[in-house]
Amino acid sequence: MTSEKRSTFGGKLAAVLVTAGGSVGLGNIWRFPYVTGENGGGAFLLVYCACLLLLGIPVMLAEFSIGRNARSNAVEAYRRVSGRWSWVGYLALAASFLILGFYFVVSGWTTAYFVRSVTGELAALDSAEAYRTAFESFKASPWQPLLCALFFLWITHAIIVKGVEKGIERSAKVMMPLLFAVLIALTVRGLLMPGAAEGLKFLFMPDFSNLTPRSFLVAMGQAFFSLSLGFGAMITYSSYFKPDTDLVGTAVEVSVIDTLVAVLASMLIFPTVFTAGIAPESGPSLVFITLPAIFNTMPWPMVWSACFFLLLGLAALTSTISLHEPITLYLHEQKRMSRLTAARVTTAGLAVLVTLTSLSLGVLNGWKMAGMNLFDLLDFSTTNILLPVSALATSIFAGWVLDRKVLQRQLANGCSQRTGILNVTVFLLRWICPVLLLCIFFDNFGLL
Ligand code: TRP
Repeated sequence: MTSEKRSTFGGKLAAVLVTAGGSVGLGNIWRFPYVTGENGGGAFLLVYCACLLLLGIPVMLAEFSIGRNARSNAVEAYRRVSGRWSWVGYLALAASFLILGFYFVVSGWTTAYFVRSVTGELAALDSAEAYRTAFESFKASPWQPLLCALFFLWITHAIIVKGVEKGIERSAKVMMPLLFAVLIALTVRGLLMPGAAEGLKFLFMPDFSNLTPRSFLVAMGQAFFSLSLGFGAMITYSSYFKPDTDLVGTAVEVSVIDTLVAVLASMLIFPTVFTAGIAPESGPSLVFITLPAIFNTMPWPMVWSACFFLLLGLAALTSTISLHEPITLYLHEQKRMSRLTAARVTTAGLAVLVTLTSLSLGVLNGWKMAGMNLFDLLDFSTTNILLPVSALATSIFAGWVLDRKVLQRQLANGCSQRTGILNVTVFLLRWICPVLLLCIFFDNFGLL
């Protein structure tokens, strides 16, 4: 192990901002609204909040405790407690690498759409059909999406090489407030639309008739993805927390911020789609086809769509950083590379994967595995297989393998005993989380 002083985040606010940045991402703005739309609106929101309490916060507390206890990268954090469990760390890193394969491609699209909004190219299209054709042909074209994805990778790399305090922490302190400012401005705009009342009713009035047993599993999966659990991101970030950072408080605050962003994004999107008379469950194309088409019917379309894609880009960037850092830190600490070399090796590997993934939507579309091109394969395998497996392993590890005293010391934070919180967390990690996670896993394979 290196004996140099390990980096830490400045203080409580920095810890919350960076961790919230790592969890707020495309999942909140792109995925949450359409998943909510497909699963009945308000009732889904209630189920989602229950999932946060039962699964999200306990697993986040587990990751925080593992990370700050070890003060090391994710692989070493597992290995130090039990050599037999280091595979979970490797799995987490491999999964982060794979998830970035498609995450950078979508992030690249947001960059391209931001530029197209500013240049007026988007506003020049004149029908919903034109927006669809434009998006489909953009996605399948070889160069533009690829260059945008690589550009996004390059920005992420540039922030990572600046280091933990000067890169990750400083960028989160700028990007998170900016993200909130843009989000609030857009939400206010959404609330002034004629369809606002209908949109809000859909989002907040629980209608249990649309809720299916599957909705519960979808809500759990969404909670994990949105809070960035299971892939070592939270272990890595919490290894930079100060000893006096309150883990319970931080986990609650991060979950609240993450949910708030998802709800605000929905308060922007539902009134907008209801105003245009479009069904809210239109799927992922909502963001790149439907919304730009609707913005174009409003005064100043360029401003609104530029702001929206800026928001999406900021959210994506804080997340790509949180997925890149665990791999870089592992190579730096375990393989004894300098931080710069570690970041370069990670970025170079990602550049190859991202290139293949981006091309898989166009020229390489013929390369299929299990009937899916590389983009769909990465999306499916990371969110539906690797995420539940590694979250399951994390909760079993924290509930059964990790010494209870370690969990107690980390959660109590030296200030109070907090035995109640400890007992509830251990109970959830031991019994409830594993069972629910197994259900998600089997359901993804159609076995439930
Ligand atoms: N939470 C991010 C989002 O909502 C994505 C993400 C970042 C993630 N890091 C992660 C998902 C780690 C799973 C694991 O878009």
